[in-house]
Amino acid sequence: MSGIQDKVVAITGASSGIGEATARLLAGRGARVMLGARGIGRLNALAREITLAGGTAHYQALDVARPASVQNFIDEARAVFGHIDILVDNAGAMATAALADLRVTVISPEDLARAIANAFAFAAPEEADTG
Ligand SMILES: NC(=O)c1ccc[n+]([C@@H]2O[C@H](COP(=O)([O-])OP(=O)(O)OC[C@H]3O[C@@H](n4cnc5c(N)ncnc54)[C@H](OP(=O)(O)O)[C@@H]3O)[C@@H](O)[C@H]2O)c1
Repeated sequence: MSGIQDKVVAITGASSGIGEATARLLAGRGARVMLGARGIGRLNALAREITLAGGTAHYQALDVARPASVQNFIDEARAVFGHIDILVDNAGAMATAALADLRVTVISPEDLARAIANAFAFAAPEEADTG
């Protein structure tokens, strides 16, 4: 085995955009992909497409803003694949503002802290304090 072949890659925000493209690319190169997002219709379609092309994909509804949902996603990945080798923590929405508005903060400190805590829950689920 070399490179990405057979690696288990968990991808958040896999139902569209960069996450979807990453899933398709890595699955095409032999990775086993675990897909997460809130809208499971598109995850289902992507997992089917990857599987029909000879790849390995599984999906689970995921809301990265809810620690219990993150834990479910991790548990499901471990149940199906045994472990996670790589996390592509891509889920999110672009918070943008017109330059003319001169808004320098578009995410609250509380939301930022929660997002960071959830990301650490992926890395070390036993030790992470997501409360
Ligand atoms: N595109 C760019 O130019 C650009 C530039 C800089 C940074 N980024 C960042 O790159 C990431 C992907 O961007 P994109 O352009 O590919 O965006 P996108 O097409 O809107 O995709 C966002 C993905 O995140 C998922 N998502 C959103 N909120 C979620 C939540 N609470 N829990 C789980 N999944 C959630 C969405 O699915 P559901 O709605 O079904 O959950 C979707 O699959 C974002 O974090 C964005 O901020 C993008």
